[in-house]
Amino acid sequence: MKKDKCIAIVLAAGKGKRMESDVPKQYIELDRKPILYYSLKQFQQSDIIDEIILVTGKDEIEYCKDNIVEKYSLHKVKHIIEGGEERYHSVNRALQTIDECDYIFIHDGARPFIKEVVIKKLYQTVKEYQACVVGVKTKDTVKIADEESFISVTPNRNRIWNIQTPQVFECKLIKKAYKKLLNTGCENITDDAMVVETMLNYKVKLVEGDYENIKVTTPSDLVIASAFLEEKNSKKK
Ligand code: CTP
Ligand code: MG
Repeated sequence: MKKDKCIAIVLAAGKGKRMESDVPKQYIELDRKPILYYSLKQFQQSDIIDEIILVTGKDEIEYCKDNIVEKYSLHKVKHIIEGGEERYHSVNRALQTIDECDYIFIHDGARPFIKEVVIKKLYQTVKEYQACVVGVKTKDTVKIADEESFISVTPNRNRIWNIQTPQVFECKLIKKAYKKLLNTGCENITDDAMVVETMLNYKVKLVEGDYENIKVTTPSDLVIASAFLEEKNSKKK
């Protein structure tokens, strides 16, 4: 029986520069619904998640309220708040709205294909290790380059992971890590695990997920995402 309180922070305050589209990528529609809808719906239906905090651009709060949250009855969404300049500012603002809970799932609104089995696996893992993130082993060989773009190291592919979200932490731990980050500052923060690793020197556990949990980043990802959705819809029929 699950007794812990779990909150999902869904991030949708980015501008999507690499997508080069007129609207931020999370509002591009796939099968007549905005990309952002799909992850919110998954958390809404999840047995693990109790509440959702949606972080978006100042001018998109009303749109999200009317055209996503109310339209699709996503009543676990308790707050829709304005994000910040960088991703970590957006996360920090969401953390400020949380007084107390057990675990916090931080998720990119640009990842529409998060599955309930992965949410459950993360929940089990965070209960054991207090900090975990989902990822997949790299399919490509990865090279570390020197400054002149010559190969300097070829790491063992079995140890190289591509990291996704949700990234999940005990509430107190992630709040402490972000507080320190905002006080001391740090460059090139690209995910939440990094904040916990660098600020608290805490070990973060990796959870193996699936390759479908892509982040829609560039136009070709839209083609892949549409194909995944089409396949899902055909299975339902
Ligand atoms: N994000 C956010 N606040 C920011 C920047 C990013 O909430 N200041 C969110 C994005 O909306 C996205 C997730 O964080 O769901 C992952 O970021 P990324 O894929 O980099 O999205 P963008 O920053 O929007 O895209 P780009 O880097 O191409 O501009
Ligand atoms: Mg970005």
